[in-house]
Amino acid sequence: ISEIARVKNLNRLQMGKHAVDAWYFSPYPKEYAHLPILYICEFCLSFFPSNFMLGRHRKRCNLLYPPGNEIYRHEDISFFEVDGRKQVAWCRNLSLLSKCFLDHKTLYYDVTPFLYYVMTQRDSAGCHIIGYFSKEKESAENYNVACILTLPQYQRHGFGRVLIEFSYELTKKEGKLGSPEKPLSDLGLLGYRAYWQEKIIDLLVNADDQEELSIDDIAQRTAITHADVLNTCTMLQLFKHHKGSHLICLNKAVLEKHERTLAKRKRRINPEKLIWKPPV
Ligand code: COA
Ligand code: NA
Repeated sequence: ISEIARVKNLNRLQMGKHAVDAWYFSPYPKEYAHLPILYICEFCLSFFPSNFMLGRHRKRCNLLYPPGNEIYRHEDISFFEVDGRKQVAWCRNLSLLSKCFLDHKTLYYDVTPFLYYVMTQRDSAGCHIIGYFSKEKESAENYNVACILTLPQYQRHGFGRVLIEFSYELTKKEGKLGSPEKPLSDLGLLGYRAYWQEKIIDLLVNADDQEELSIDDIAQRTAITHADVLNTCTMLQLFKHHKGSHLICLNKAVLEKHERTLAKRKRRINPEKLIWKPPV
């Protein structure tokens, strides 16, 4: 694809009751690029050049949730695991849609090596996609997330944090430590930093007074890699020298910020509601 073709092509996307601006180029077929609005079926993610054609499609389309196994249900949130090998068309449509909001990633046309963990909000009409992350079935680098996205109409409501928390719950079930694929976007980095800080501080605050937690303890209990724990603690200036060794100490500023963060948290993952075994 030439550079010129990579310039942002689509203008607006209509998904269910939401209309949003596209941020970046996405390789939708030529006939669909440059339309004022691209109409997307919010369940099967197929795309149409007009509201009329979408309406005709909606009469035939009977998908009401992502085409995979529901592996988590709590309150109004459900997660579905969709296999890229079994649902090629759906996963390609998801990739096309998410490329509209991702600048730096190569879009994976070959969806077969990935599983897609799709977060939805349930109501009487069905399970509406809020966001998702993809994950390689085999990651040599132990990445636990390849791409992660909250659809723009749902951003800044704490859903990205819930997606990240879910990804680490899967990693815990695998008995591993995980980190997202690099490079992260600016927004991705902000989201992950906020998550790592919250989880690590939360663990330290709730640790017994007697207990001195090491980097490794923190990693084992959160499934966050040693490198990510170390960087987060360094950024928060939690290391103190004491008699030739390093201690992790909380300071007042960090604690106060943490209290404010917790007060905002409305949604979190309930690990007991995850019914899932690592795929073999
Ligand atoms: N500006 C500043 N901080 C931001 C931010 C922004 N626009 N978006 C997220 N953050 C930080 C904040 O600390 C935020 O916590 P707060 O709202 O309590 O202050 C924290 O991240 C979590 O925000 P949350 O609402 O849970 O995240 P989100 O649902 O908006 O999703 C992404 C975060 C990264 C998934 C979302 O921005 C996205 O989909 N971006 C486009 C795709 C992308 O870049 N993906 C990552 C690379 S693969
Ligand atoms: Na990590």
